[in-house]
Amino acid sequence: MTREKVLEALGNVIEPDLKKDIVSQNLVDNLQIDGNKITLSVNVVNPAMHARKRMQEAVTFTLKRILGDEIEVETAVKGMSTEAKGSRRKVLPEVKNIVAIASGKGGVGKSTITANLAGGLAKAGYKVGIVDADIYGPSMPTMFDVVGARPASIDVEGETKMTPVISYGISIMSIGFFTEQDDAVVWRGPMAAKALTQMFTDTHWGELDYLLIDLPPGTGDIHLSLVQNIPLDGAIIVSTPQEVALADARKGVNMFQLDTIKVPVLGLIENMAWFTPEELPEYKYYIFGRDGVKNLARGMNQRFLGHVPLVQSVRESGDIGRPAVMQQNTIVSEAFDELVRKFVEITK
Ligand SMILES: Nc1ncnc2c1ncn2[C@@H]1O[C@H](COP(=O)(O)OP(=O)(O)O)[C@@H](O)[C@H]1O
Ligand SMILES: [Mg+2]
Repeated sequence: MTREKVLEALGNVIEPDLKKDIVSQNLVDNLQIDGNKITLSVNVVNPAMHARKRMQEAVTFTLKRILGDEIEVETAVKGMSTEAKGSRRKVLPEVKNIVAIASGKGGVGKSTITANLAGGLAKAGYKVGIVDADIYGPSMPTMFDVVGARPASIDVEGETKMTPVISYGISIMSIGFFTEQDDAVVWRGPMAAKALTQMFTDTHWGELDYLLIDLPPGTGDIHLSLVQNIPLDGAIIVSTPQEVALADARKGVNMFQLDTIKVPVLGLIENMAWFTPEELPEYKYYIFGRDGVKNLARGMNQRFLGHVPLVQSVRESGDIGRPAVMQQNTIVSEAFDELVRKFVEITK
């Protein structure tokens, strides 16, 4: 059994997100052959446990099929590093992670979660950008207190680019910077897709650790074309535990898993998990039901990222334009800090 034979056999194993074989994509490391035993490690795009397990099984199955049942295979599968993902991408290679925040249904707090994730990541020292792609209701200008701001243009190596609007150190591009507040609804599919592409490629983002995309709610044709137009490294689904929202969240997960999309779902977040009066933090009222998102995640074999309670100050800080995560030691900032910690861990 030679190294060449093993690599040739491994060339039959396909990385499901890249749809190319693991050898040509340079995903095999530390290959060692010792008698009948082959050890190797494989990098995959989707770091979820089930995806890694599937790769492990595919490697064993393929090697045994081609090289014989008597061989022993030991495969360590790990999620690809952010650098590897970034340099794999032709668009925005200087951005380490591009993650969409999606929801099936509107009003479940997708923008609130996006703003607070961004705020929490910035608080933790990461360089963060936001693309507010919500053509139906761009809300980043309000949530970051930059309503009416307009991106400036600069010359980058002979090309004219836009510079994002900065708030609390976070670089923001919003479809709201290009429309009057009440016009947003007139954006139609192709126009929206074009505007979105421009917010990506015609913007001078510079180096970023995270670029978060606040997608419009829904899973229709517009969403498909938006999602196909951006090079996403992953998606997060936000939902409330309410039945009607869960049904749409499920569609959201399914959309990212379509063969034509294939964006790894990083996990689900349960927003408005319970209502807590600020002055009685030990009281929890499960007004939209309990653990609906957590159970959905388990049922769909997806990661559950955490609960965010419904607290008046979350809404107020959104309206004032200073994300709640930026407060210190409140129940809300703690919930968001925990979410951020988890988010960083899964996007490493
Ligand atoms: N955890 C929460 N606690 C209190 N209010 C919230 C919470 N999450 C969202 N909201 C409020 O609910 C409304 C809808 O949230 P938003 O983030 O705009 O939803 P989406 O972007 O999904 O349409 C906003 O007024 C927001 O301030
Ligand atoms: Mg929104």
